[in-house]
Amino acid sequence: MAVPRKMSLALAILCLLSCNTLLPSSASSDSFLQCLSSMMPNELVFQQSSSNFVSVLESSVQNPRFVTNTTVRPLCIITASDVSHVQAAVRCGRWNGVRLRVRSGGHDYEGLSYRSVQPEVFAVLDLARLRGVHVRPGEDSAWVDAGTTLGELYYAVGTTNPGFLFPGGACATVGVSGFISGGGIGLMMRKYGVGGDNVIDAKIVTANGDLLHRAAMGEDLFWAIRGGGGESFGVVVAWRLKLSKVSPTVTVANIVKTMDEGVTDVLAKWETIILKPVLPDLTIRVVLQYKQAFFQTFFLGGCSDLVNTMNSVFPELGMTAANCNEMSWLRAMAFVYFNVPVEGLLNRTNNLRYYSKSKSDYVRRPIGKVGWESLYQQWLSQNGNGQMILEPHGAAVGGANTKTTSPYPHRRGVLYNIQYGSNWCCNANDTVAAAALGWLNGIYGFMEPFVTSNPREAFANYRDLDLGQNVIGRDGLTSYSRAKVWAQRYFMGNYRRLAAVKAMVDPSDYFRNEQSIPPLPKY
Ligand SMILES: Cc1cc2nc3c(=O)[nH]c(=O)nc-3n(C[C@H](O)[C@H](O)[C@H](O)COP(=O)(O)OP(=O)(O)OC[C@H]3O[C@@H](n4cnc5c(N)ncnc54)[C@H](O)[C@@H]3O)c2cc1C
Ligand SMILES: *[C@@H]1O[C@H](CO)[C@@H](O)[C@H](O)[C@H]1NC(C)=O
Ligand SMILES: *[C@@H]1O[C@H](CO)[C@@H](O)[C@H](O)[C@H]1NC(C)=O
Ligand SMILES: *[C@@H]1O[C@H](CO)[C@@H](O)[C@H](O)[C@H]1NC(C)=O
Repeated sequence: MAVPRKMSLALAILCLLSCNTLLPSSASSDSFLQCLSSMMPNELVFQQSSSNFVSVLESSVQNPRFVTNTTVRPLCIITASDVSHVQAAVRCGRWNGVRLRVRSGGHDYEGLSYRSVQPEVFAVLDLARLRGVHVRPGEDSAWVDAGTTLGELYYAVGTTNPGFLFPGGACATVGVSGFISGGGIGLMMRKYGVGGDNVIDAKIVTANGDLLHRAAMGEDLFWAIRGGGGESFGVVVAWRLKLSKVSPTVTVANIVKTMDEGVTDVLAKWETIILKPVLPDLTIRVVLQYKQAFFQTFFLGGCSDLVNTMNSVFPELGMTAANCNEMSWLRAMAFVYFNVPVEGLLNRTNNLRYYSKSKSDYVRRPIGKVGWESLYQQWLSQNGNGQMILEPHGAAVGGANTKTTSPYPHRRGVLYNIQYGSNWCCNANDTVAAAALGWLNGIYGFMEPFVTSNPREAFANYRDLDLGQNVIGRDGLTSYSRAKVWAQRYFMGNYRRLAAVKAMVDPSDYFRNEQSIPPLPKY
């Protein structure tokens, strides 16, 4: 059927308009840069012609997959050192139709904080200079600037305010902002909840360039930014985090079991005991690689209590006092991070050696010995560079109500989260990369019957573009219905509420990327 001429003309104009907002002409790029230079010091803006452009671009990148010569690069990098620079970047971007990719720690698994998948003119707003932890002895909260890493936070809390902790993840170079924006899981969440549950205030720069704290932004936006995904709602410039009391001594104990030692029996027992709500102080994370499993035990107490508990609930692991490492919480965070000295938590130097790709799942029913057996036989023992990390849920995570706490949706009934990772090295050729990705897709396919379905849940912080990418509708906005394919897996029943918040705070969809929350359409 032919489209009436008037309508096709209207469509053509619409398309032209939306193409224009996506791809500003060089004129608007120039006026964007002029706008920036009128509002902030020139030395904070690195254009492609700058000799430092590549080193600044790569400064926090974790995955060399996204710094190749075919990666879509930003027009410039804005290294804001003050909140006013963030406001200026947003205003100049809005006025000139140039979008921003916000970067805090740079660990995004798909590199979306510094690259665009499709050709697009955009700028990176890098917050690494906007960092600092404002913590005082004896206080149960701290203001943390957006560009701070988890390691910097742990170090500041552990040295200035010993006796308190923040329940973050194991990797010190991950940014506090990205961590919280996607929920944030880790070794202490069974006791204290996920990262997003531990935020009591925040400051955000909205799409209008306004700076709002909790009272001014309102409870819906404050809820959304604590796990509803980064980039979507504005630029968070600071978080006020809840700090919790921790005993002077915690215990870390690592035990390895091999296939010959009956690792599958141990795993089958592990998945039946990890959820015991009476044990929120105990977390046993497991890393499965090749023919073995590494049981990383983290206990918020001393060795003798840990060993007694383990003997009664999990004797199969065979833990004794000889396995224990008793230490302060700060030392323990350095121990789980490659056992560096505590000052090593401040090291932001990135490692661009390993190429990697990750996927995730959630398990609500034990996999059982037979399942573990075939997983080892068919997949794990076939590839020494692939791994699976299992993070126990339950206790404080499982009991929380996502309407009143944060949007992280994988709560009641979840036994554990799985992260599949495939790593390859170094300057690998296409054959090596294809084999690594083939293994990852294979194990992910194999696991389907064992994990959640409808939706097959996935973790927003382990971003995976295979799950789907946003589509821009004729109205120039990200399509709400098309985004369901990936967003329901990350956010489940919270997706619609997140989209309603987006429609309220950024109806023109200025803040967007390939997996940002779309505005809920007004029907
Ligand atoms: C080695 C490694 C270990 C990890 N371990 C864990 C773990 O234990 N637990 C866990 O939960 N996750 C973990 N992750 C995942 C990690 O939490 C996410 O990748 C997270 O998004 C990284 O935050 P970032 O600030 O470093 O990333 P970035 O790449 O800077 O940002 C991630 C996303 O958030 C947006 N964003 C960043 N800053 C802001 C801001 N200030 N305001 C608004 N949006 C913003 C970005 O635009 C991007 O979309 C790990 C990742 C890696 C690479
Ligand atoms: C891009 O890099 C690849 C290998 O990494 C190389 O073969 C190719 O010549 C490069 N292309 C350009 C335009 O530099
Ligand atoms: C910092 O980390 C990098 C990358 O992991 C490492 O090569 C370097 O030795 C570390 N620096 C210090 C001082 O420990
Ligand atoms: C890529 O690496 C594999 C394995 O090391 C090797 O067999 C193959 O010849 C390499 N291919 C190219 C094009 O270099």
